[in-house]
Amino acid sequence: MNRTDRYTAPWVAITAVLLWGMHSAIAAPAGADYFPNVPLVNQDGETLHFYDDVIKGKVVAINFMFTSCGDICPLETAKLRDIQTMLGDHVGKNVFMYSITVDPDRDTPAVLKAYREKFKVGPGWQFLTGKIEDIDRIRKKLAMYNEDGDELSDHSINFVLGNEKTGQWLKRTPFDVPEAIVSVLLERLQTHSLMASNSRQSYTEVRALPSVGNGKNLFLSRCTTCHTMGQGDKLGPDLLGVVSRRDRQWLTRWLKEPEVMLKEKDPLAIALLDQYNNIPMPNLKLKSTDISDLIEYMQEEERRVNATPKSLLPQPYKLQSIIKNTAETTASSE
Ligand code: HEC
Repeated sequence: MNRTDRYTAPWVAITAVLLWGMHSAIAAPAGADYFPNVPLVNQDGETLHFYDDVIKGKVVAINFMFTSCGDICPLETAKLRDIQTMLGDHVGKNVFMYSITVDPDRDTPAVLKAYREKFKVGPGWQFLTGKIEDIDRIRKKLAMYNEDGDELSDHSINFVLGNEKTGQWLKRTPFDVPEAIVSVLLERLQTHSLMASNSRQSYTEVRALPSVGNGKNLFLSRCTTCHTMGQGDKLGPDLLGVVSRRDRQWLTRWLKEPEVMLKEKDPLAIALLDQYNNIPMPNLKLKSTDISDLIEYMQEEERRVNATPKSLLPQPYKLQSIIKNTAETTASSE
């Protein structure tokens, strides 16, 4: 069985120590007895021991990934990168971030280093590789190990947040809004008492925030990691005006199967890929109703922005008229 198969295996909660899900947290026994202290190697070739150096006494965000994963891993990496930005100075001090590869044969320290640079990951977030047996042990202990054939496509959870000292561990999906994850890391997990009931409530409030139209909801939860509407480029292009500047059929198909269009070398898709640091837009497994809702939302937003006097828009805000057709610009400058 190769790494990818294992990674995609449906996951089984191996340990009762870990309660998981939206509102659950756990009380773990003393971490040193529970977690393996196996050696891992970071992107710079330095050895870190999982218990002593990676998690002991820390609030951590850990995800399992592999660099050749075409779909959900870039999404998770991008989401974590957002979270890292929002955490600012807390990273490396109050919160420690780790991405552990499940494909250590391929993901050598050098490969992880290159991946980290490609995603412009800042300091305080390490990428780790090691022996597959050791990584599997860690995943089992974190209940992140799937014995047989999971669907990555259901965006299953490869992302765990925890406080080793208090023994609280939570699973999250890459689609949780970053604000919610940040609040878990900076508030809920920083408290040394176990699971104050009011923190549960405040998390629910954060979760419930984007309950607007389906299109907006989808955009906020799935796209804002990489895109804005009028506030400039992130990992992907600013999408304000995209509904006007692209052919509707192209746009619909792009949202449905970007990876197929890239494989087919669709010229516009290739030009965009080139322009955006070779980070492929992930297939977000959107249903066709989701796609039309998203397009409708983006169109509404464009109308709203164009109808608002420039002076009333938050800065920096792009107006549709000043957005260039990025792909044409790229093509003509080559
Ligand atoms: C992991 C980051 C990521 C996420 C999440 C993401 N995108 Fe993208 N998107 C990109 C990148 C990078 C590009 C440009 C490069 C490429 O893939 O060709 C892009 C390109 C696009 C384009 C083409 C832009 C143009 O100028 O034609 C559209 C439209 C788009 N994305 C919409 C969306 C929508 C809608 C969502 C949410 C449902 C979304 N994206 C989620 C990274 C992302």
